[in-house]
Amino acid sequence: MLKNFWYALEFADKVGRTPRQVRCLGQDFVLYRTESGEPICLSDLCVHRGGALSMGTVSGDCITCPYHGWQYDSNGVCVRIPANAPERAIPRKARVDAYPAVERYGMVWAFLGDLPEEQRPPIPEIPQWADPSFRAVQYEMVVDANYERTFENVVDASHTPFVHGTAFGNPDKPEIPDFRVRQTDWSAEADIPLSPPPPKGLWGLLFRGKELPDFVTVTNAWYLPNIVKLHVRLPIGDLMLYDFNIPLSQDRTLIKILGFRNFFTGGWADGNTRKRIEKILLQDRPVVESQRPELLPFDLSDELHVRSDALQVAYRRRRAQLIKDGWWVGGDDVVTGDSPRRRATVLAS
Ligand code: FES
Repeated sequence: MLKNFWYALEFADKVGRTPRQVRCLGQDFVLYRTESGEPICLSDLCVHRGGALSMGTVSGDCITCPYHGWQYDSNGVCVRIPANAPERAIPRKARVDAYPAVERYGMVWAFLGDLPEEQRPPIPEIPQWADPSFRAVQYEMVVDANYERTFENVVDASHTPFVHGTAFGNPDKPEIPDFRVRQTDWSAEADIPLSPPPPKGLWGLLFRGKELPDFVTVTNAWYLPNIVKLHVRLPIGDLMLYDFNIPLSQDRTLIKILGFRNFFTGGWADGNTRKRIEKILLQDRPVVESQRPELLPFDLSDELHVRSDALQVAYRRRRAQLIKDGWWVGGDDVVTGDSPRRRATVLAS
């Protein structure tokens, strides 16, 4: 798992004044908002006796542990110990890890790492969020697979005719012409020609007698550490899915999706969009859950790659570099934070 990145932890409208527990990189966090609406992200482990702050209450900008009432401010510093006599000082070690948090593009993000602000990789841009011609829907599903397997699966174009042959792939034309990968330090993107399936049902009637293109262009992209974009150009408009592959643990992933469409933009079509997203994920799920080894190999040569795997290969190469640079955490490693108790709070399952 990669540290030193902004992780989208929750849909922004799910984070309010009531504390909310979320999990990422095998660690529990508590999210809440201050009186002025700023999102706060703290370790969800009280340093007194390990109570879950997410079961506590928020007042002002502080959160109170439900067990013995210790109160922490939005920087994670304990400011009140009710059982102590008033003249007794609060120990300096009485603090929980606090993580920089922001709200952007309808998500609450937390920076999970130890880099100073100026060295942090950027949050990827999601321009459709502020574009009034697009309508957004949310969807989420838990998959019993490692997040890098689910992440790579979305940019993997060549599985489409086989896994999604009944949805949007064409099993009769699985070949993929060569495509070029555009890469930065933090992302990679490619316009991939895919053969569309013969139109069925209503589409079949609409396109009867019309000549259909051999290929349509689908744009796939990944953004470090765990986001994938799928841009499908349909005859009626654009559908874009941003998948946030959140590592709950080494072998469990919470996939949160922000989906955007610029057609049928009334709320009446939201349910149908979610159903389509669910159908695609349910087709992917048994395949990614069955992949072995469960974890993505560290060595590029441990699996075979062909030309159509270019986006995944770009990811594995970049990941190898980041691992070399010490951005990888797993097992007993420490993710982040400056508390002496951090080893107890990180990657505990
Ligand atoms: Fe949190 Fe005691 S465990 S106050």
